[in-house]
Amino acid sequence: MPTVKEILQTMDYGPAPEADNHVTAWLASHEKGFKHFIGGAFVASKGKDTFEVVNPARDTLLAKVAAGTAEDVDAAVKAARKAFPAWSALPGHERARYLYAIARHIQKRERFLSVLETLDNGKPIRESRDIDIPLVARHFYHHAGWAELVETEFAGYGPVGVCGQIIPWNFPLLMLAWKIAPALAAGNTVVLKPAEFTPLTALAFAEICREAGLPDGVVNIVTGDGATGAALVAHPDVDKIAFTGSTEVGRLIRQATAGSGKKLSLELGGKSPFIVYEDADLDGAVEGVVDAIWFNQGQVCCAGSRLLIQEGIAERFLGKLRRRMETLRVGDPLDKSVDMGAIVAPVQLQRIQDLVRKGEQEGGTLWQADCALPAKGSFFPPSIFVDVEPSSTVSEVEIFGPVAVAMTFRTPDEAIQLANHTRYGLAASIWSENINRALDTAARMKAGVVWVNSTNLFDAAAGFGGYRESGFGREGGREGLYEYLKPDWEKSLPAAEDNKAATLGVTPADAPASTGLPSIDRTAKLFVGGKQARPDSGYSYTVKSTAGATLGQAGLGNRKDIRNAVEAATKAGGWGAATAHNRAQVLYYIAENLSARAAEFEQRLVSYGHSAKAAKAEVEKAIRRIFYYAAQADKYDGRVHATRSRNVTLAMNEPFGVVGILCPDEAPLLGFVSLVLPAIAMGNRVVAVPSPAFPLAATDFYQILETSDVPAGVVNIVTGARDELAKTLAEHDDVDALWYHGSRSGAAAAEKASAGNLKATWTNQGRAIDWLKDAQAQGADYLRHATQVKNIWVPYGE
Ligand code: NAI
Repeated sequence: MPTVKEILQTMDYGPAPEADNHVTAWLASHEKGFKHFIGGAFVASKGKDTFEVVNPARDTLLAKVAAGTAEDVDAAVKAARKAFPAWSALPGHERARYLYAIARHIQKRERFLSVLETLDNGKPIRESRDIDIPLVARHFYHHAGWAELVETEFAGYGPVGVCGQIIPWNFPLLMLAWKIAPALAAGNTVVLKPAEFTPLTALAFAEICREAGLPDGVVNIVTGDGATGAALVAHPDVDKIAFTGSTEVGRLIRQATAGSGKKLSLELGGKSPFIVYEDADLDGAVEGVVDAIWFNQGQVCCAGSRLLIQEGIAERFLGKLRRRMETLRVGDPLDKSVDMGAIVAPVQLQRIQDLVRKGEQEGGTLWQADCALPAKGSFFPPSIFVDVEPSSTVSEVEIFGPVAVAMTFRTPDEAIQLANHTRYGLAASIWSENINRALDTAARMKAGVVWVNSTNLFDAAAGFGGYRESGFGREGGREGLYEYLKPDWEKSLPAAEDNKAATLGVTPADAPASTGLPSIDRTAKLFVGGKQARPDSGYSYTVKSTAGATLGQAGLGNRKDIRNAVEAATKAGGWGAATAHNRAQVLYYIAENLSARAAEFEQRLVSYGHSAKAAKAEVEKAIRRIFYYAAQADKYDGRVHATRSRNVTLAMNEPFGVVGILCPDEAPLLGFVSLVLPAIAMGNRVVAVPSPAFPLAATDFYQILETSDVPAGVVNIVTGARDELAKTLAEHDDVDALWYHGSRSGAAAAEKASAGNLKATWTNQGRAIDWLKDAQAQGADYLRHATQVKNIWVPYGE
């Protein structure tokens, strides 16, 4: 035993192990074997297979867990379905009591759950004890509140139904809480599949559900690997899938759910920038890096893995960082004074090692902390790559380990360009003592969460989720609750029928423009970049009335026209940066000009076969709807979330960017207006494909746009075959969101094709909307689908 004097001389840390006897006893009481939790009881798997759960810090077996089969998943979904009517019918207050009870039970078992999480995952006890588990409790408390309020705060919405939830291994219990708490608060029932590496805290949570008296079947937990997850995704009686994990699997899930009508939220990977300006508090920023990339061994989807450092301070900053790296302690995660624990599994360690080797082969210089690693277990030292190109593998690929890359920049513009140079868009961290610069940078980040002079802050009251290939949907806060709710109007739509009109009159064989047609006033062109454009194909098609009379010709747009339109829309980015007041003024002007030409539009609708009365009603409604969105342009704004003390968390509604809109046949003018106007009111640019059967009301509309000060490229109109053009739009990487109204099969194809860049989609699933009814065709749901929430965390105080 060293003397106090000796200790003071070396200042070495002694061991400070956390006891694990309670957890070991619990594991022993389960004879190291766990069943699924279905219908309120632990139920044996229908299959015989089990898998081993290993402590990655010691390579020791913790438990054997059932490998869920499709039959097990089916039993769990049935249990959830059975429980749904009673659970969803409970008054919110009663659901709140259950959630509150769960939160209390979690708090009472905080130490137990922390130790179990650390044994199972390898994360330092300091983190599971001080971050993960307290946040789990906070999440249930917060959502107990939402259960209480959901009926009044979300009037007109109801639960989605049975939710399938699939979670990763990096924050096992926290991800469970992020999924289960909002689902239950909103009145849904769930089947959750934990990650195969880390199922144990989910099983302990199942026991908590029983202790809290949660009705049977409200929460079901089926353990297993990807195959079990895939069975849950494929199950026909699941109404929603919520997934957190890799972008690759997210893409598979997007494809598998296409056309199923399942609601979907995806929280995927990231390669988040960490920007250090030369006026930053450098010591603060160094501690920021420690939290950004070495927290949880870097196995964090929003890890600040790309350090972007302003040139003038790069050397000094990296010097400080290197010195700090040397003080980090890697070791037994149960030791309370350890900074970094074990990587979750040998296969992940291998993946990290392979990527690091690749980084060196590509010319990067690797700095690693010179710390002793335990002889046993999966460990990797804190690491940084310097001398890397923005296009190198380690700069682009999510390593999901304690490895950052460092690059320099000269100007704020260059920093922003580098920061956004990624297919992901989950988070960003910005360090500057100049608040103007920090907020300007935050606003220009293409990321769902931005931390100013801070990093990796989470709270149940703030939404979390990505832009671009980091997925869509939010978890946490008011915005997260919408993922577990469905508007009543959507539920009341008539069942889908394949809409035959969707394929009317759109093949070139129909009628090239030159064939002897009766008197045609003119051939409608496309509208691209503020100009009328001939279709690239050189073809037009005949547009007929419902009675079969030829009305005119419309351009037959193709892939090239869509590409041109997307390019024009991309260039019109200034629209999103314009003030909401200015956008509103343009929208009012559109309404004014439509009003002046109402008779002409009515005539157009009458020529399609509308009665004079119906035509008048549709045009009148279109004008009113434009007024509505002009009014909303500067009112559908964000919030300040009540997260931590001394923190302003700004939830900003931002436009997606370029939105592809496939318009319905039901109301040729009103359908177009009802979709395009909310999108542009929120600052998006649009490539719209009007009803193929009745496109001329929309093509007439471009004359209105031309006279209403709508900047070039904000609205582009390409006529032609809806489903063919939908596919091109869905596959286009510069299209950020896609709305589809047409046939059911067309909706399915559009959703499937959108998996490439994981664009957010909103489709009618083939169900016709009554565009004259405000309850269905206008309102906050349209604005919400036109925006994504960015949460910017700004701490205050010295
Ligand atoms: P993963 O995406 O394969 O696993 C996440 C969850 O999805 C697990 O529960 C898994 O069983 C399940 N799953 C796997 N295949 C499935 C399928 N076809 N259908 C339904 N569910 C399926 O991630 P994995 O393999 O554990 O890690 C690989 C990489 O993914 C990591 O290195 C990291 O880059 C990334 N990742 C990102 C996470 C995030 O939070 N964004 C979390 C975990 C991993």
